[in-house]
Amino acid sequence: LVQELNSGLDQAFSLSVVEDLRVAFLGRKGKLAQIMQRLPELSPEERPEVGKTANIVKGKLTGLLDECKTKLENAAEADKLAKFDPSMPGRMPWQGSLHPITKVMTEICDIFKGLGYDIVTGPEVENDFYNFEALNLPPEHPARDMQDTLYVTDNILLRTHTSPMQARTMLKRKPPLAIIAPGKVYRRDSDLTHTPMFHQIEGLLVGEKVSLAELRGTLTAFLQEVFGPETKVRFRPSFFPFTEPSVEVDISCCMCGGDGVVDCKPCRVCKQTGWVEILGCGMVDPEVFKKVGYDPEKYTGFAFGLGVERVAMLKYGIGDLRMFFENDVRFLNQFI
Ligand code: PHE
Repeated sequence: LVQELNSGLDQAFSLSVVEDLRVAFLGRKGKLAQIMQRLPELSPEERPEVGKTANIVKGKLTGLLDECKTKLENAAEADKLAKFDPSMPGRMPWQGSLHPITKVMTEICDIFKGLGYDIVTGPEVENDFYNFEALNLPPEHPARDMQDTLYVTDNILLRTHTSPMQARTMLKRKPPLAIIAPGKVYRRDSDLTHTPMFHQIEGLLVGEKVSLAELRGTLTAFLQEVFGPETKVRFRPSFFPFTEPSVEVDISCCMCGGDGVVDCKPCRVCKQTGWVEILGCGMVDPEVFKKVGYDPEKYTGFAFGLGVERVAMLKYGIGDLRMFFENDVRFLNQFI
């Protein structure tokens, strides 16, 4: 049997052949088992001797099979290694990157953190009270139409701006306070330059004797930090129901540098005006202080709100708002 197996194994070039041989020799109906079946035919004196021999044969067969199996496995491994070319260039793993909106939000929040502001966040599904009423926008106020509100029910809506965080913060804390509230906002609006969801960052600072000059200094320093120290900043009178006076802020155009011309062509970013609008702000209206129980004789404050997509477009020279929402990796990969 041992010789027979040996010559069988000489021809075995794959593991499956070795397995077939194992079954043929050592299996339940294999050659050895067949011999053992005939043990009762022998005389009682012969049986122990033959049984012992059979056991020795079984050990030898097992040894031969195992040895051959190991040899084949080692050969396969060596073959694999021989085909491996360590000089081949590796495959670059995909590397994730932060979305440009996330990057700009983080950068802006970090600047205000450095100025001592706390970061706060709140719900995107908001009550009419926080989004409008507490901000001096009573029902029927015409300025509510400016906002293209998406309603959930009569009283519940998707926040149209981050300004509800002003009311939420003031109802929770006592002055002095300084907070920054980043987040998503929603409006019923969709065209080339508007998306139904976008991002805003709200700022609010309340204390005693806070002045418009401080608002101006804070925002100028902030905008020059984001857009570069050469950036010019302009303040224009405007209107918001929750600030008085209200101001809109422009920065000198990042594309043409403020002279209205790029490469001898009229600048499209600022429409040749040299300025681009960047945020809305103002001194907190005393009516808002009354709604949250602050004494408007004692406290003054300023608030501002800016669109993150707008900042990102100007900062990175992105011409099409839709790129932020398409999630094309060729676009996103540029913001590692
Ligand atoms: N909430 C205003 C908007 O969405 C921006 C703003 C915030 C204006 C704070 C003044 C003060 O347009």
